[in-house]
Amino acid sequence: MGVTKCEYVIEVKDLVKRFQAGGSFWRPKYEAIINGMTFSVRKGDHVAIIGANGSGKTTLMKILAGIYLPDAGTVTVHGFDITRQLGRVLDHLSFVSPALNFLKKLTLRAKINFYAKAQGKDPEPAFKFIDEFGVANMLDEMLEVFSEGQKAITRFAIALLKQPDIMLIDEVTANLDVLRKEKLLAYLSARKDRITYVIIDHDVTTVDRLSNKILMLKRGGSVLKLGDVGEILKSIPYRYNVDVIPRNVKDKQFWDDFDQPWREVGSHVQFICQTKEEVSRIGALLLDNKDVISFSSSGLSIEDIYYFYLINEDFRGSEGMGRISYDDAMI
Ligand SMILES: Nc1ncnc2c1ncn2[C@@H]1O[C@H](COP(=O)(O)OP(=O)(O)O)[C@@H](O)[C@H]1O
Ligand SMILES: [Mg+2]
Repeated sequence: MGVTKCEYVIEVKDLVKRFQAGGSFWRPKYEAIINGMTFSVRKGDHVAIIGANGSGKTTLMKILAGIYLPDAGTVTVHGFDITRQLGRVLDHLSFVSPALNFLKKLTLRAKINFYAKAQGKDPEPAFKFIDEFGVANMLDEMLEVFSEGQKAITRFAIALLKQPDIMLIDEVTANLDVLRKEKLLAYLSARKDRITYVIIDHDVTTVDRLSNKILMLKRGGSVLKLGDVGEILKSIPYRYNVDVIPRNVKDKQFWDDFDQPWREVGSHVQFICQTKEEVSRIGALLLDNKDVISFSSSGLSIEDIYYFYLINEDFRGSEGMGRISYDDAMI
């Protein structure tokens, strides 16, 4: 595969990417979406990119995949420069994108054969993958009739064809049903020794299973932190959220009596919990309460955790949450 010996799998130095944001054809105005980004990914690192909407996560991934050119700075993959040696980079890097433009009028079978031929690879492993993930019944269907979940499996099958050692995965697992998602996470996890993952995903479980580093982006286009996943998740132990719509409970003591961190969000009250048992306990207390119209619980997303990490959220009684100063929290 011609991988050179290089300490870094990915190295990004002083990267800048600008897009036109307003102005006119003659006098375009540009905005730097990525503005001086530096980080590196070593062998054994698996990175989840997190940041607010529009902070440049997808843009960064597209640069790593050679879809956008950097305006300044350098990006190397296995020591190959992304602008001058893109072919070498793409020999062992696959980008799994929800926006991937499929050849819609081809059947799945024809499409796999097409990509395999184009890359000089054996299509059989892709057919095996399709079969393993329960999409074999679609082999002779056109892609335009596929469900989002089936498309996601197809995207992975095609991305895996070139036997990549780097996979960039942009929010592709969201469309999978629970069973397929679990199976895919197991499949990808089992290949961590051979493949470096760079992922964007909202799901804490996915981030936890596929990555060991979190790259936090700041609004304004630079890196806030490249930290250890375990350390960041441990610093914010909360995993669940109970959202309550009260009838009219303005009395803070009422909520304090639940003995669980909570905050007001508009007319809602939100508790955060570390365990499902805590969620059940709050649920039981709320169930027959006349002052409560409704409540629901859900898992915290990686964004929630990101915000907790960045912003000194006003959760009452939540000592021990990962705190960071407002200066650092400029997002
Ligand atoms: N091709 C493009 N042309 C102009 N603006 C773009 C383009 N791609 C992305 N942007 C802008 O860059 C910003 C970051 O986008 P994106 O990287 O998709 O963010 P994220 O994935 O973090 O939500 C957004 O404001 C978006 O509108
Ligand atoms: Mg995005």
